[in-house]
Amino acid sequence: MKIGICGGTYDPLHNGHEALIRSVLAEGLVDRVIVIPAGQPPHKRQSRISMSRYRYEMAACTFSDEPRIMISDIEIKKDSPSYTLDTAAQLQERFPDDRLVLIYGSDVLVDIRSWHQPLELLARWPLLIADRGGLQAAESRLIAADLSRDTGAQIDFFPAPQIDLSSTTIRNLAADSQPLANYVPACVDAFIRRHALYRWKDELDRIDVSLWHELAVIEHVLWDMLTPKRLLHSLDVLHYALHLSFCHQVSARKVAFAALLHDCAKCLPLREQEGLAREQGDPQLQSGALAHGPAGAMLARRKFGIEDPDILRAIVCHTTGCAEMTSLDQIIFVADKAEPSRTYFDLDEIRVAAERDLDHATYLTLNGVQSFLDRTAIQMHPYTQTAVSNIRKRMKHNADTQTVIDNQTMDD
Ligand SMILES: [Fe+2]
Repeated sequence: MKIGICGGTYDPLHNGHEALIRSVLAEGLVDRVIVIPAGQPPHKRQSRISMSRYRYEMAACTFSDEPRIMISDIEIKKDSPSYTLDTAAQLQERFPDDRLVLIYGSDVLVDIRSWHQPLELLARWPLLIADRGGLQAAESRLIAADLSRDTGAQIDFFPAPQIDLSSTTIRNLAADSQPLANYVPACVDAFIRRHALYRWKDELDRIDVSLWHELAVIEHVLWDMLTPKRLLHSLDVLHYALHLSFCHQVSARKVAFAALLHDCAKCLPLREQEGLAREQGDPQLQSGALAHGPAGAMLARRKFGIEDPDILRAIVCHTTGCAEMTSLDQIIFVADKAEPSRTYFDLDEIRVAAERDLDHATYLTLNGVQSFLDRTAIQMHPYTQTAVSNIRKRMKHNADTQTVIDNQTMDD
């Protein structure tokens, strides 16, 4: 069997990628295709790329109707920088009786010589290059002829649909809330909207690239610790909480670590969660669904080396709230309940408040939690009760102070 290997960043996967991959199969050039979303790129990037689970899910939904196309997390799961040579060698080991062929757009021919050990790569596996016609195609053939002469590479071209799209343009359109239906598959469009994937792109682009790399390393570990759904939720909380950190001038670093790790213990067996919660030591948060907060703080410390008490506290109390909630606690608490993909009660009012007034947003969220608990006949946790009454007092105090200030201003 002949297997086409097709890698890319896919941030997001767009109609051009889809057409290219489907056309290789339609032309009968390969029997199957393995689509490989990139992991951490070999050369440290100057710019941020979206977290792996988002990019993987967009590829997976696009080809869910086509059993001959498989999505692989082989590069995402690598600990070290991923080179095409290593990935192809690993896949060849996994499919020893099949012939592998590497599929690329023609732009790759220009810089393939600068890749990691290009001679070995080109000597071992043939390339299948998308031919989009025009002047560029003629140039590509000349470069290919040079490469074949110098390295013995086998390079073939196949006719690919001419779709001129760039993921950068699509990210910018999404950030401007422009429709994407003409540029990306329908499921990718729906996915981007459901997770508000690029809504806060400009803010997230302002985050230090080295912090983003640290977060990507954490995501890499969470890949096997959390279910895909739980990881997507954690990433949604990360994006939304970072947006709120910009609205309220709270440390993006603290917010990011607390948001990404707040549910890190949630997919452990309950017995393990409760064991970790006992070690953490808060007697009020040791059993059932409440244990994952303190258990998460313990794991954040042990497995991810987080020692900052502010971050650990926000993780501990993200489910129940707590007596004197800091802005960091409030951002994690509200973001967990109102991240973009949540739909369980009317969250618009909370989302509007969250950008302006964290006390108000936390109060509304606590009320939402209370009515949810009323419906399920679960008693409100004492921490939640205290959080509600303290925030109510704080809001009243702030309102009274404002009235005094307003009166003074009028008197002046
Ligand atoms: Fe959560």
